[in-house]
Amino acid sequence: MAILKIARMGHPMLARKAEPVSDPAAPEIRRLVRDMIETMIDANGAGLAAPQVHVPLRLAIFQAPEERSDGGLAVAERFEHSAPLTVLINPQFEVLGEEKEGGWEGCLSIPGMRGYVERPAHIRYRGSDLEGKTVARTARGFHARVVQHELDHLDGILYPQRMHDLTKLIFESEARYWVQPPAQEELETEDA
Ligand code: NI
Repeated sequence: MAILKIARMGHPMLARKAEPVSDPAAPEIRRLVRDMIETMIDANGAGLAAPQVHVPLRLAIFQAPEERSDGGLAVAERFEHSAPLTVLINPQFEVLGEEKEGGWEGCLSIPGMRGYVERPAHIRYRGSDLEGKTVARTARGFHARVVQHELDHLDGILYPQRMHDLTKLIFESEARYWVQPPAQEELETEDA
């Protein structure tokens, strides 16, 4: 296990399209994922894509914690809002419906900053896990946001490129001017 170096915005690896993983069950992919999980946890991130650790493959990990979901939801609905630590290899997604949602994003490749990004609110995604089995889910809320953010990394897109209003690209230290105190805690854990 090793903590990997994270590429920062400006590194060419973050701007290129990543290549498909030919064998999701290969031992070197399992090793890479193990190191990515350790790196993500060490950096207090919610997600990490392989290009962020200088590996140009279509692979990402993420988690969408339960605490973000609304209380009292039925099980299936809650799962749409949250996800356990998930490995997604060669992923794809499609947008469900017209609804868009704005939210503050962070990125481990853009440390210290936040940006307000509008994205489709409801998606369906699929990919392979480390055994080569298909993972297929629908997602809303933070879950849908983190998946779209990570999949963007596989196409060389960083969240500022998704922003319409760059006055909302801010330093974390100024976040108090933009969000209410309860939401500020959330901001601190959303690097992806
Ligand atoms: Ni990111």
